[in-house]
Amino acid sequence: MSIRNLITKAQRKVLQLVYRFDGWHVSPLSERPYAFDIITYCNNRKERNNFVEIGCGLGDITRNVDYITRTGYDNDAKVLRAAKVLPSKTPKGKPVKFDVFNFPESGLTGTYDVITMVNWIHHIEPVVLKKYIEQYFKNNLADNGEIVIDTVQDKAYRYNHNIEFLSAGIECTVYKIGDYARQREVFAIKK
Ligand SMILES: C[S@@+](CC[C@H](N)C(=O)[O-])C[C@H]1O[C@@H](n2cnc3c(N)ncnc32)[C@H](O)[C@@H]1O
Repeated sequence: MSIRNLITKAQRKVLQLVYRFDGWHVSPLSERPYAFDIITYCNNRKERNNFVEIGCGLGDITRNVDYITRTGYDNDAKVLRAAKVLPSKTPKGKPVKFDVFNFPESGLTGTYDVITMVNWIHHIEPVVLKKYIEQYFKNNLADNGEIVIDTVQDKAYRYNHNIEFLSAGIECTVYKIGDYARQREVFAIKK
């Protein structure tokens, strides 16, 4: 492990002691290739006005994308309190807004170029997830907007989603951003 990774982990361990968030978040961004690829993919888009991530944790993805507005939602108020004290790259726009949001009960408002939901949707029933993907696609995506999600094929996870099922009936194109451990695949569902 690199010295930089060790320092990041030590800093996050201290944050965890203060804010009492789940131990998963101690892992630095550099240990999550899928997150790194999502950042690169989103930063290479032409339209970069509004970005939202649901289930953002410490905001490693949201804090590193270059959009005019960035919103990080999570249902864990503890991790959001810590996310707010971490530095965020803001070459293009305003500071990140973090807020509590509980999928699927909380209503998503606003129009976004990218809506990201990764590394937690394996807890959500396929029929429920599909319903809200359809709803967000119709009501909350800008022209040329996209919803970035992941699927895993690992019986240790509660639900192993299927991208054909999740995108069926939506007038979209599906683009695969990448393949990762645990047969994780990250997709963009594009308008
Ligand atoms: C494993 S972390 C992933 C964080 C980030 N998406 C990433 O990949 O770097 C999952 C996060 O999703 C949040 N989460 C889980 N279920 C959620 C739900 N139903 N609504 C909103 N956030 C949720 C958790 O609190 C946690 O912070």
